[in-house]
Amino acid sequence: MSKCFYVSTPIYYVNDVPHIGHAYTTVACDVLARFKKSRGHQVFFLTGTDEHGQKVEKAAVAKGETPLELADRVVKRFQSLWEKLNIEPTDFIRTSQERHKKGVIALFRKLYESGDIYLGEYEDWYCTPCETFWTETQLLDGCCPDCGRPTDKLKEESYFFRMSRFQDALLQHIEANPDFIQPRTRRNEILNFVREGLRDLSISRTSFSWGIPVPENDRHVIYVWFDALTNYITALGYPDHPEKGFQDFWPADVHVIGKDILRFHTVYWPTFLMAAGLPLPKKVFAHGWWTVEGQKMSKSLQNVVEPNMLIDKYGVDAIRYFLLREVPFGLDGDFSHSALVHRINSDLANDLGNLVSRSTAMVGKYFDGVLPAPSHPRPEDAPLLQAYAAMPAKVDELMNELAFNKALQAIWELVGLANKYIDDSAPWALAKQPDQQDRLGTVLYNLCEGLRLIGRQVAPFMPDTGEKILDILGCAAGDAPLQPGTSITKAAPLFPRIESE
Ligand code: ME8
Ligand code: MG
Repeated sequence: MSKCFYVSTPIYYVNDVPHIGHAYTTVACDVLARFKKSRGHQVFFLTGTDEHGQKVEKAAVAKGETPLELADRVVKRFQSLWEKLNIEPTDFIRTSQERHKKGVIALFRKLYESGDIYLGEYEDWYCTPCETFWTETQLLDGCCPDCGRPTDKLKEESYFFRMSRFQDALLQHIEANPDFIQPRTRRNEILNFVREGLRDLSISRTSFSWGIPVPENDRHVIYVWFDALTNYITALGYPDHPEKGFQDFWPADVHVIGKDILRFHTVYWPTFLMAAGLPLPKKVFAHGWWTVEGQKMSKSLQNVVEPNMLIDKYGVDAIRYFLLREVPFGLDGDFSHSALVHRINSDLANDLGNLVSRSTAMVGKYFDGVLPAPSHPRPEDAPLLQAYAAMPAKVDELMNELAFNKALQAIWELVGLANKYIDDSAPWALAKQPDQQDRLGTVLYNLCEGLRLIGRQVAPFMPDTGEKILDILGCAAGDAPLQPGTSITKAAPLFPRIESE
């Protein structure tokens, strides 16, 4: 059986509509999922929505809706954006679904029965926007140390998870598995946090009702992060262990998240799993944060970048490309229209677009659109052919590190080499010399074979573009060298240049 690969996005809150930040994580995971599929893996790619908790309940009240009405409405926005972005998840989980609630309750029960959950009393400071409790000493000037907003004092009966019990085991796990938390700086952050000591964690609430009731005590609802994190296994059928589900795909290969929710994924989630005796995800990768034209994205600044509009204007592949090419995965980045237009014009229209149109136009002009056979390689062909041979393994290596931007760079190095090969070998001059027909055929064959490789490698990033390139070359799968004699279609420009406004 082929290897299984499981990649997840966070499940997004439904009190906010999707923006470029959500699109970023989800595109990255889709690219990884497509890449793994193209390498023969069985892939489970999960995304979804986080629908419970006080934050969603408050947003619904403010809009005069029930929380579920709000969720149903906003979920459609997420799903239609994913469709428009050419994102193809294997499954989409909503925490309001019965299959999810059943799994969360099973996990809660299991930890209660093993003594890792107990009933106690809570008195602490709560930040509603972050859905996080803080102790008096953790507050900064009375406000949330993460987001700086005011906190409320809460005293309530609460169920607690004995997180403190797992401090040493978690430390050992992080130390023994250097790749568990990536990038490295995030790992160090968490190591420091865990070394300072883990307190038991309040995992139920009595102050509102929009959540999954605690089994046998429905005055309490289960804490939204206990609920949400469990999605990664409930989507696989947990507490059952079905084939094509939990049995084949757990532990996850990678949870991709933003750095804002690192602690939940690398401290809370692993200790819940340890308590349940379940294996931990192999990797948690926290990417960086996007600002917009140098500013934090926020509703009040009215600078939230709405992806639908961008896709209509620039095309879905250009947006997918830009997001992953512009910023090294793991670092913060800035979204600006000028950077986007620059990338489209230089990398896509100029470099890739011209390579495709020049190469295929010449096969049309000099060989009536029929791919010539290569003959007699020359020393000047060697660098190009060597680069062809080396590229797939190089891309594999970089993709396995989630170094999306470097993988694209590697593909574009080859685009550059091929463009240079055209200039150096000057096919238009060869075409004028009757005794150079073989040489001309070899040059054009080599170029088209490069396009095939490029089409195949860009396909996970830009599915439409990859497909168009392979269509033009008359080789849908693109997994074997081109056959001389194949009809090559003359291509319409893949990426029209954007004139600046
Ligand atoms: O935190 N830059 O949901 P959420 C980069 N429901 N990424 C960004 C971003 C930005 N400016 N803004 C958002 C939650 N993101 C919880 C998750 S998981 C079990 C529960 C992305 O709707 C990034 O992936 O606030 C971040 O981690 C996520 O959206 C937060 O989404
Ligand atoms: Mg958030």
